[in-house]
Amino acid sequence: MPTLDKDYWETRYQQGEAQWDMGSASTALIHYCQQLDKKDLAILIPGCGNGHEAAALCAMGFTNITIIDIAQSPIDNFKANNPSLLETGCVKLICGNFFTHTQTYDLIIEQTFFCALPPSMRPPYAAHMHQILKPGAKLMGLLFNFPLTEAGPPFGGSEEEYRQYFEPLFAIKQLEKCYNSIKPREGRELFFILQKAA
Ligand SMILES: C[S@@+](CC[C@H](N)C(=O)[O-])C[C@H]1O[C@@H](n2cnc3c(N)ncnc32)[C@H](O)[C@@H]1O
Repeated sequence: MPTLDKDYWETRYQQGEAQWDMGSASTALIHYCQQLDKKDLAILIPGCGNGHEAAALCAMGFTNITIIDIAQSPIDNFKANNPSLLETGCVKLICGNFFTHTQTYDLIIEQTFFCALPPSMRPPYAAHMHQILKPGAKLMGLLFNFPLTEAGPPFGGSEEEYRQYFEPLFAIKQLEKCYNSIKPREGRELFFILQKAA
């Protein structure tokens, strides 16, 4: 397995090898956010890549979004692609490591970040998510649903495996097959909502 550090991800972006990038926001995540009335929720999108979800949330009226990515290129791409959104101040951009980020949030959105981490980082991912969610806050998003192998990223997994990480820390509100995945990911994603105790 390559070392999945800042240089690895930076090189992938600079060499045009960001095959995970869908070019637009994930439908399932946007559908979920459409039913949220409170537009000033503090929202984090870790491993945001080019930030399509953040741009869509801003356009929907959300005012307090933070995106963080360990690589500089996607952060620069977001700036270049969304000059008018930046003027509104609805998105804060951070180039940095999710695991050392300590600000707290009402909602964290997972979109192909978990699957990009070495599988050994899954327990620390669950613990850090728990740490930076406010009491009663939620982590929601998509997880891949195919067998975990050494061939990644992306690294797969199963509902049973994911429950082991999350059940001790969160109330699992939803963890089930995603019904509105994009075509290439149909049948290969789980939609989940986890809640930290209030
Ligand atoms: C597979 S990409 C997904 C990007 C984006 N979520 C999307 O769907 O297009 C994984 C992203 O996580 C970022 N990343 C990896 N490790 C990270 C870390 N420890 N902290 C913050 N970002 C990280 C990478 O730079 C990359 O942009």
